[in-house]
Amino acid sequence: MQETLKTETKTNIDWETIRSQFPVLQQEVNGQKLVYLDNGASSQMPQRVIDRINAYHSKEHANVHRGIHTLSQKATDAYELARKRMQKFINARHEEEIIYTTGTTDSINLVAQCYGRKNFKEGDEILISAMEHHANIVPWQLIAEQTGATIKVIPMNDNGELLMDEFHNLLSKKTKMVSVVHVSNSLGTINPVEEIIKTAHAKDIPVLIDGAQAVPHSVVDVQKLDADFYAFSAHKMCGPTGFGILYGKRELLNEMPPYRGGGDMIDKVTFEKTTWNDLPHKFEAGTPPISAGVGFAETIAFLEEIGMENIAAREQELLVYATNKLNEIEGLRIVGTAENKASVISFLLKDIHPTDAGTILDQKGIAVRTGHHCTQPIMDRFEIPGTARASISFYNNEEDIDRLVDGIKYVQEFF
Ligand SMILES: Cc1ncc(COP(=O)(O)O)c(C=O)c1O
Repeated sequence: MQETLKTETKTNIDWETIRSQFPVLQQEVNGQKLVYLDNGASSQMPQRVIDRINAYHSKEHANVHRGIHTLSQKATDAYELARKRMQKFINARHEEEIIYTTGTTDSINLVAQCYGRKNFKEGDEILISAMEHHANIVPWQLIAEQTGATIKVIPMNDNGELLMDEFHNLLSKKTKMVSVVHVSNSLGTINPVEEIIKTAHAKDIPVLIDGAQAVPHSVVDVQKLDADFYAFSAHKMCGPTGFGILYGKRELLNEMPPYRGGGDMIDKVTFEKTTWNDLPHKFEAGTPPISAGVGFAETIAFLEEIGMENIAAREQELLVYATNKLNEIEGLRIVGTAENKASVISFLLKDIHPTDAGTILDQKGIAVRTGHHCTQPIMDRFEIPGTARASISFYNNEEDIDRLVDGIKYVQEFF
């Protein structure tokens, strides 16, 4: 992944044509052409994904996996297509290793509860890092409380890079799970997850990777990484909200009991005992967000047509452009200066509170995120209240960055 992101290859893709396929971007906000730089929180959907969801609702909707009637079978095929496409997209060995969830948060909670309840006990340790999203902290705290396990944290340096020596020192016989973010949503740091996985595996410790900010921006190959679990969300990669993926190795998933019960996840139910359905359905209780799954299948096709390696290269290009421009602004400090970075730029403007900066930028039609970005421990580590964050997607362009730079200068003059 790092190699991919570092590539300086200029692609021949017509990025403006791709941008034109996103209807949200073609509007004015507060009287100005929208500059959308909050892609880390949620990205936008291209017209063809919106159309696909619309067509599903217009002509194909029925409940899935349950009916023998034509419409139900059509809906099931459309919904299951995302699983097939995703298997190929992240190179999972088996289709049933792709578990549908409602997003990264749901995926991590699933592993914490289903793996943790069975395998953690008093005195065990769960190793996470200092730059985790709350979604990769709180589920582990909940299972730690339930089982008597404790949480250890890999520290980072002032650039926002994990201290790998400390990581090695923290791994012990007590460690029962390592769960680390692939790309930090606040700092942009790309963590050396391949090395982390390899090191943990040498001690027979399973690893979960929070890939919420990695899958949308790079080529992720779960077999090459050898991740045991890998979690991400559709809405951060031009797909619908309420939908996500948990990849898990089949042998691990097979041994984990479900933690949500209901329809679809069962084999046989009596009042005395229930047996579980096979993977992946064992973890997919109840009627799922069908139209989101159908739309996500279209998203995957869309991204594959552009090529994730091209997306990664374009975003690197925009990251370099934006970093250079922002660094020229006096009084602006970038938080998160790791050598290996994705297209996320958190910044501070001296005494101007990030929320005030974000509010003024919004008046100029520029959408950035402000606050702690669901990573309060990072803000504590840097002793800051929060940051303003511009998170860049392949459909952004140099003009968006120039507008951001002008907007920031305006904010500075305003205060
Ligand atoms: C790194 C990371 N992990 C987890 C999440 C949670 O994702 P979701 O809210 O889609 O479950 C996010 C969302 O911002 C994230 O950036």
